[in-house]
Amino acid sequence: MRILITGGAGLIGSSCAQYYAKKRVKVVVLDNLMRSKLFSYNKKSVEYNWQYLEKFKNITLIKGDVRKEKDVLKALGKGVDAVIHTAGQPGVPSSVRMPLEDFSINAFGTLNVLECVRKRCKKAVFVYCSTNKVYGENVDNIPLRKLKTRYMFKNLPGITENMPTDLTGHTPYGVSKLAGDLYTQEYARIYGLRSAVFRMSCIYGQRQFGFEDQGWVAWFAIACLTNKKITIYGNGAQVRDLLYTHDLVRAYDQFIQGNHNSDVFNIGGGKQNTISLIEFIAYLEQITGKKIKCKFRDWRPSDQKVYISDISKAEEKLHWKPLITIEDGLNRLIKWVQENKELF
Ligand SMILES: NC(=O)c1ccc[n+]([C@@H]2O[C@H](COP(=O)([O-])OP(=O)(O)OC[C@H]3O[C@@H](n4cnc5c(N)ncnc54)[C@H](O)[C@@H]3O)[C@@H](O)[C@H]2O)c1
Repeated sequence: MRILITGGAGLIGSSCAQYYAKKRVKVVVLDNLMRSKLFSYNKKSVEYNWQYLEKFKNITLIKGDVRKEKDVLKALGKGVDAVIHTAGQPGVPSSVRMPLEDFSINAFGTLNVLECVRKRCKKAVFVYCSTNKVYGENVDNIPLRKLKTRYMFKNLPGITENMPTDLTGHTPYGVSKLAGDLYTQEYARIYGLRSAVFRMSCIYGQRQFGFEDQGWVAWFAIACLTNKKITIYGNGAQVRDLLYTHDLVRAYDQFIQGNHNSDVFNIGGGKQNTISLIEFIAYLEQITGKKIKCKFRDWRPSDQKVYISDISKAEEKLHWKPLITIEDGLNRLIKWVQENKELF
């Protein structure tokens, strides 16, 4: 088996690359390492992951841009059996700052990869990393109740794939990701590509370079352990379901290896693995014995108060469920940050 992972130096991409490399699959990683530039980060971030992947003999690393046909065709070579398209501009505030760059990477970049796959290896399975943000502010129409440290949906375990994506606020990020999501579905319908769209909630894990603008779980751990101040937008009671990267990749793999028809899945830690921002701050303080400095600011646009994925479709169809509990996953992440403080 030969697999192409775009954005393979990122959090999700590098986990995919490592997962398949360990299974002795031939892996090609395509990444232009632009995460640091997107977030104006003056230290190494995905460059670290790139070097980390160099130790695997069955990974070929190609520096290139998903928006350039020749780069994608080079990475596809004579063809691959599967493509996991993780390359993306993943931040909401950055999409508001630079909507054209966001569109060109997330929407056009996805279309370009799909088109190259159609031309070069139509039989390849295509996995697209979509997001809960495609549902935008429709999620905020669900009645909530407020507990001491978190909001909760009043009568709903989680968001299913039937949540509408239209007639609502999205942010430019939500729009560009939805464009990629729809193109992936359409390439399955019109051109017969076998594809899966995974609308992901909050994904976290080791080798995650979180910044204030993106990757809040890692950012909170990094800020705590390197004595930086954390800004909380809103009251901190917003809730997310968290899924550890390894569990996410297992879900992708279940789709790739199975005979499933093209489909759309909501994916995250589900109702068993939820946490609010202030609950995570308290957990970090308890685990590390440190007092975290926080300041509170106004809510950010389209910041959903609660997002919890209903993962029952993925569980049923893919015979999958998360195996890494939220405590276990957070402890793994905190340990990694603790051992690599010089990176931040
Ligand atoms: N992490 C999450 O919680 C989450 C949630 C929902 C959706 N997603 C989506 O999953 C995907 C991966 O997220 P992540 O957290 O691993 O992000 P990440 O930033 O860690 O990884 C993305 C990678 O894509 C690369 N990249 C960016 N533009 C590129 C381009 N034009 N050509 C080639 N490579 C490029 C970056 O350098 C980076 O290595 C993104 O598309 C994101 O929108 C992530």
